[in-house]
Amino acid sequence: MSRKALIAANWKMYKTPAEAKAFVDAFLPLVADHTRDEIALFPSPVLLPTVVEAARGSSIAIGAQNIHFAEEGAYTGETSASQLAAIGGTHTLIGHSERRQYFGETDDIVNKKLHTALKHGFVPVVCIGEVLGEREAGMTASVLKIQVNGAFAGIKGLAAEVISSIVIAYEPVWAIGTGKTATPEMAADAHRIIRAEVSSLLGSDVAANMRILYGGSVKPDNATALIGQEEIDGALVGGASLKPDSFASIVKY
Ligand code: G3P
Repeated sequence: MSRKALIAANWKMYKTPAEAKAFVDAFLPLVADHTRDEIALFPSPVLLPTVVEAARGSSIAIGAQNIHFAEEGAYTGETSASQLAAIGGTHTLIGHSERRQYFGETDDIVNKKLHTALKHGFVPVVCIGEVLGEREAGMTASVLKIQVNGAFAGIKGLAAEVISSIVIAYEPVWAIGTGKTATPEMAADAHRIIRAEVSSLLGSDVAANMRILYGGSVKPDNATALIGQEEIDGALVGGASLKPDSFASIVKY
């Protein structure tokens, strides 16, 4: 099954607007002739207008690291789907492990955000993954199944073309920012579990076409082995996406 890979940069809480513009100006020439994969940048909210403008005219997709599920309201510090759309964002991360860990995001909140993202026509990247204790306890499969079911509640009833936009990012929490990358085999195994659960929920065709990215210490020297796996449809990159040459190397895996 050929699924167009998505190579995405999650810049987290790094860069000023000037640094963000400098990144895009340096990055675009490095990937100018790259059409094989979809490329996306996920900057901090304050950087979105700068990055959208700097990337204008290119095929680089720009997304938010998070959106609130409400259309608008008294949610200090949050970003709404309408605000993201108004500045040209087309993608959004949902349920990143750092949002779950530091901001108490539950599978139910992730589900609400997924529905809001789909309602606004965004490409949602739903982040799931087990923590080290869960893996060491042999609970990885059960945790991933619970997260998929929680995130995808009520999705089955939506139009096929809406559902087809959903992307999953498998990010084992113990691999994020640690340099302890999952082996390609471990990642592929987890992706198979996730894809099987999606199939049981949404059908085999949806599962076969859904892109599942790997995230967690992806670097230029391991990107090929990871993304070269049949089950892995791209990468969600943190630290190694902060420099243009490093992220361009991963894009060209
Ligand atoms: O969302 C991607 C991020 O969590 C991975 O971070 O630094 O391990 O590539 P990093």
